[in-house]
This record gives sequence, C-alpha cells and structure tokens, in this order.
Amino acid sequence: MKDQNFLKENNARHLWHPMAHPADSLANPPEIITGGDGVEITDVDGHRMIDAVGGLWNVNLGYSCTPVKEAITRQLDALPYYSTFRGTTNDAVIELSWMLQQFFAPDGMSRAFFTSGGSDSVEVALRLARQYHKIRGEGGRVKFLSLKKGYHGTHTLGASVNGNANFRTQYEPLMPGCYHIPAPYTYRNPFNEADPARLSQLCLAALEDEIKFQDPSTIAAFIMEPVLGAGGVIVPHESFMPGVRDLCTRHGILLISDEVITAFGRTGAWSGARLWGVQPDMMCTAKAITNGYFPFGAVMISGAVAGAFEDDTSGKGAIGSGYTYSGHPVGAAAAIACLRETERLNITDNAGKRGAQLFAGLEALKEKHPVVGDVRGGRGLMSALELVADRGTKAPIDKATIARIYRKTLEAGVMVRVSGANIILSPPLVIDASHVDQILAALDQGLGSLG
Ligand SMILES: Cc1ncc(COP(=O)(O)O)c(C=O)c1O
Repeated sequence: MKDQNFLKENNARHLWHPMAHPADSLANPPEIITGGDGVEITDVDGHRMIDAVGGLWNVNLGYSCTPVKEAITRQLDALPYYSTFRGTTNDAVIELSWMLQQFFAPDGMSRAFFTSGGSDSVEVALRLARQYHKIRGEGGRVKFLSLKKGYHGTHTLGASVNGNANFRTQYEPLMPGCYHIPAPYTYRNPFNEADPARLSQLCLAALEDEIKFQDPSTIAAFIMEPVLGAGGVIVPHESFMPGVRDLCTRHGILLISDEVITAFGRTGAWSGARLWGVQPDMMCTAKAITNGYFPFGAVMISGAVAGAFEDDTSGKGAIGSGYTYSGHPVGAAAAIACLRETERLNITDNAGKRGAQLFAGLEALKEKHPVVGDVRGGRGLMSALELVADRGTKAPIDKATIARIYRKTLEAGVMVRVSGANIILSPPLVIDASHVDQILAALDQGLGSLG
C-alpha cells in the first residue's frame, strides 16, 4: 500500500467521485478511509470515528462481520465466478434463491432475479413490469409513476422515475412516460399541510388524479421507497403505502417497492413493505444483502407476476435482461452468510430500539439548536436533520455552514452524511446505546460550533 503522502497527493486527482463536482473534490479532497472494524472507521491519519452512515446505508452488520468475510474467501477458493445466463448456474445462487423466497414469503415474493446493485435492480424491475403487461396482452401499459423526492438510482429508467432534479437535469432528455406525484413530506409540500394523515390523503388524491389523467390502461407500475431515504428520510404516514397499494390494485398497476435501503431490517421491520403491512408486486433489493462487502442485488417477484411469465407459451416471457454478474457466486455466498447473520442477530430488534433512542436524541437537539428545522425518522435506524438558515421562513442553510457542522462533527469522532441541507444518519444496525450517545454528542458539538 502506498504511503500517506502519496495518497494525499493523488487524492481525487485521477478519479471522478460519484455525486460530486470534480472541481470540488480537488478543492476539498475527500476523507481517505483506510480501515474499518466494528462500527468504526479509521482515516489515513489514524483517526477513528463512528460511522453513522453505515458505509452507504449498507454495512448493516458493521465492518467485522466474520461469517460474511469467510464465506467470500471460501467461495473465491471453490468457484470465483460462473455465469447464470441460460444453460448454467452455480450452487451458491441456488441456495440463496431458496433462502430469499423463504425470507420474503410474508411479502408475497416467490422468485429472485439477481443483479449487481440497486440501480440494476430498479432497472430490471421497471423492465419486467412492462414485459408483464405485454405478456398479458396489455402492451399499452408502458408508463411509470413515482414520488417527487424519491431516489431510484442513476440508470436512465431509474433517473427518469427519480424525484430530485440533481439526478435528472444534466442528463435530460430522460425516458418519456414517467410522471411524478408529490411526496408525503410534511415539512415542505405544495399543499402546505403539516399533518401526516391529512397529507397522506392529499398525496393519494394526487396519485388517483394522475392515474385517471394518464388513463390507467397506459400505466405499467408505480415505484416507491417505503421510507424515502436519499431524498432526506421522509417517513410516510402509515396510511400512505396501503393507500398506494389499493389504488394500484384497483387500476391494474404493479406496485414496485424499492427496498434497496429498507430490506433486511433497517426500518426495524424485515422489509419496508412489511413495516406498512403491504404486499407489493416486486421488490428491489441490494446494499445490505451482502453487508456492502460485495456488489450484489436481487429483484424479488411476487407469485402472481412470476406466474404470468412462467405460464407464457408465446415466447414473450423470455427475459431479455441480465448482467455478467447476475447471480455471481461470491456475491451469493456473501448474501447467504449475511442473511443467516441478520436473522441470528434478530437485527430488527436492535434497529428498532437504537432507532428510537437516536430519534429521541435528535428531537432534543432540535430543541437546543435553532439551525435544525426538521427532524425525521423514528422508524428504525434511518434519520435526518434538515438544517435551515431561519426556522420561520425555512430558508435553506448555506453550503459553507453545513460543511462546518460536518467538519466539527467529524472532529468530534463521528462520520455523518451531508446531502443538500440534510444531515443523514444510517448507522450500522449493530450499534449499541453508547454509540448512539456518542453520535448525538458529536452532532451537538457540530451544531453548537455555529456559536
Ligand atoms: C432506494 C434506492 N434505490 C436505488 C438505489 C441505487 O442503488 P446503487 O447505488 O446500488 O445502484 C439506491 C442507492 O442509494 C437507493 O437508495
């Protein structure tokens, strides 16, 4: 490994960072992380900090998950790669598919289609939705509906259903036939409605209006995150996703639950759909499926959708999607170990308890620091602080101030994620109560540094 000086000298010089301006990465070089253990990471200068980001919502079991590491090593020795394209498969992926259908049976899922990550999973689910309708003789159903503020990765279909201009504008024109509904975001919404239950009904009414306007017979699917993550941890009212399910069912529209963040326990339930008591038609998963140790994902498919494909005799059911790394045996082995460990630890329990502790602590920080405009979360270990320059007008905070808060929090020993005006917290699900206290104390210092 090259020495510290080499790493600092070459930092961001020869690579472009995702979701960053190359000039900004050169002016403000990224933190160089060189180690991770437990729920902590270490930078190139040897500073240890709690990772309150959990990698990128994915390192749910922390950095020292030996069963997953060992499974990866064993699989690399036994079979480091083999394709699952038509005609061949591998033992690890067969076992994983069996485990996943057991795991997601309460969500109504019965088949898996493997991918290399979340954006792939979204892309495949949207493509399969159109194909499903074509197989059934409803080929006119090609449109997609989604939520403003939603995040569904950066492939072109995914970006087209994304609800944030940052991921869209510079890449337009995006795919035609994608339409957006207001998100159930109580702090800012076009209805000026702060009550979660009433806002949920207004957003559902907007969805119904859009379905009628577009004509239901032209709509393939509605895609949503059960709890919106990257858009700033927007937790819908409990009536929202069931309401969406009902509208989709009534109008023959498939419901795709984008669970890239929420599957495998983050919300305190085993899946986001289960949190709200909803059975979707497909689920997109990735991230924590391998604890972030191997790029991998799975689209889960309901029995009814699978049936349409499997009963097809016209040939239209042949799947024309897939990746070289679909069903990668090393990823599959990692996922098997990860799923076993997730269940052995009954991780939803800790996610729920520590999530409640974190959320209560963030509420207390809001009382103390006027720069905190809104606190969101309360469903497991995904929370956000939305920072404002002025609570009365809700004017967004400037970049320099939020950068200062980030730096001071980091110096106090905690890595957090800044996204726009939001500080997003998604720590590993294995954190304990003292870690949560440390996260809150560091944020207190960061927010207090404004004087
Ligand atoms: C809900 C959701 N969908 C899709 C994605 C895209 O996943 P990936 O970055 O693995 O392509 C993300 C990534 O954060 C996500 O949060």
